[in-house]
Amino acid sequence: GRKSVIQNEPFADFTKKSVREGFPEAIKQVRSQCGRVCPLFINGREVLTDDRMDSVNPADPSEIIGQVCQAGRAEIDMAMEAAGKAMASWRDTSPEERAQLLMRAADIARKRIFELSAWQVLEVGKQWDQAYADVGEGIDFMEYYAREMLRLGTPRRMGNVPGEVNEYFYQGKGIAAVIGPWNFPFAISAGMTSAALVTGNCVLYKPAGPSSVIGSTLARIYQEAGVPDGVFNFVPGRSSVMGDYLVEHPQLSMIAFTGSKPVGLRIIEKAARVQEGQKQIKKVVAELGGKNAIIVDDDADLDEAVRAIVYSAFAYQGQKCSACSRVIVLEPIYDKFVRRLKEAALSLAIGPAEDPANYMGPVVSEEALEKIMQCIDIAKQEGSVLVCRDDLDVPGYYAPLTIVENIRPEHRTAREEIFGPVLAVMRVKTFDQALEWANATDYALTGAVFSRSPNNLEKARKHFRVGNLYLNRGSTGAIVERQPFGGFNMSGIGSKTGGPDYLVQFMDPRVVTENT
Ligand code: SER
Repeated sequence: GRKSVIQNEPFADFTKKSVREGFPEAIKQVRSQCGRVCPLFINGREVLTDDRMDSVNPADPSEIIGQVCQAGRAEIDMAMEAAGKAMASWRDTSPEERAQLLMRAADIARKRIFELSAWQVLEVGKQWDQAYADVGEGIDFMEYYAREMLRLGTPRRMGNVPGEVNEYFYQGKGIAAVIGPWNFPFAISAGMTSAALVTGNCVLYKPAGPSSVIGSTLARIYQEAGVPDGVFNFVPGRSSVMGDYLVEHPQLSMIAFTGSKPVGLRIIEKAARVQEGQKQIKKVVAELGGKNAIIVDDDADLDEAVRAIVYSAFAYQGQKCSACSRVIVLEPIYDKFVRRLKEAALSLAIGPAEDPANYMGPVVSEEALEKIMQCIDIAKQEGSVLVCRDDLDVPGYYAPLTIVENIRPEHRTAREEIFGPVLAVMRVKTFDQALEWANATDYALTGAVFSRSPNNLEKARKHFRVGNLYLNRGSTGAIVERQPFGGFNMSGIGSKTGGPDYLVQFMDPRVVTENT
């Protein structure tokens, strides 16, 4: 008895004692499992490898979250063979049966929401509320794609000419590689894998290195939900060892990737080259970066705007493709806005995500930290520093919360994705100039406007060219089905996750015409 419109999972409600107490308990329980060997899953069985990588707590890298077995080429071959064998029957199971698998997986995740959130707190430094929302979003994806498959799974009769019957229907493409990001480690992986599975594809899932243990929890959920052997394979591994090998594999049909622009472009290029023995042109669905702007109009409600901008820019340390990294402010309100932004930024508590008092925590890895520090150096040269919270003296990969003003569209700080807690402030004279500057990047993912002018909101609706535009709301936190998510230009290729066009990308349409 499930409705056709999904009931989005609620956010964590900390007015409830069970929720407040659920987290410390789950963190304690998950911590007792930390440091274990984390195997691959291939053909329904655990597979151990000698090559292992420690996944660590970014707030304290001496804490090992798991020793993750790393797939090499041999394991990719093994998984590809298993997937190939499983494909024939999986592709022809009924859409209902595949939708049921997703709904069972969603039910399992729902029961374990605290545990699944706790893994995120420890492995990728995600704050309680956001970890909970991430798991909730993953459940939403499963529920939504299950329903979408029921909709698309019914063959459609085309045309109305007497004497012939035309049926339009879909089949899964074959074997999909799903390559996930670490920043929404459950949600986005659950979304891409469940889409691939429900459309009748077999999957090789490679999580991002820093969120591999979280990735393995997803593999266990599918296992428990009863995915047939070979249909879902969990193959964490080093990109340098098996990344290209996976993408170039002649048996692969498609790749669903979420991550950085350079990696995405590399995948697109590698996938385009036809390998010996390859029988299918590979399709790539890639969700890449953003350089998202929020415009603050001269009549904006600053109580709303400042709070939303701080959240969009610094929640989860700015490590979201949807994060605000440019705020474009109209001159008449500039001084007032900047004063309040600065005060707000200085008031944020920073420290481990494990302590819910902290608004911001560490970035995901040493590598990420180094890259962000380079960007901060550039930002300091290009603009003038308004805030730089580099006074923290704790272990962990903490990138200083940084706000720089006097940034112009030609600056690197206004063009290149930083993926950290760095915000550029830009001053403009008119709303039209604000729109022009907002559009002046190669990306087109999210954007937002705070204004009370119906005229300016209307202009933004038409001319602020991004995949997801929010009027009088922050730029992050799209909700499955309500705000189908994704961008265009250099922000990616493919249609929006959690939206009505997403699943068709994983299938090939067929038409059968019968002359009657
Ligand atoms: N869907 C996320 C958001 O909207 C980003 O991946 O913030």
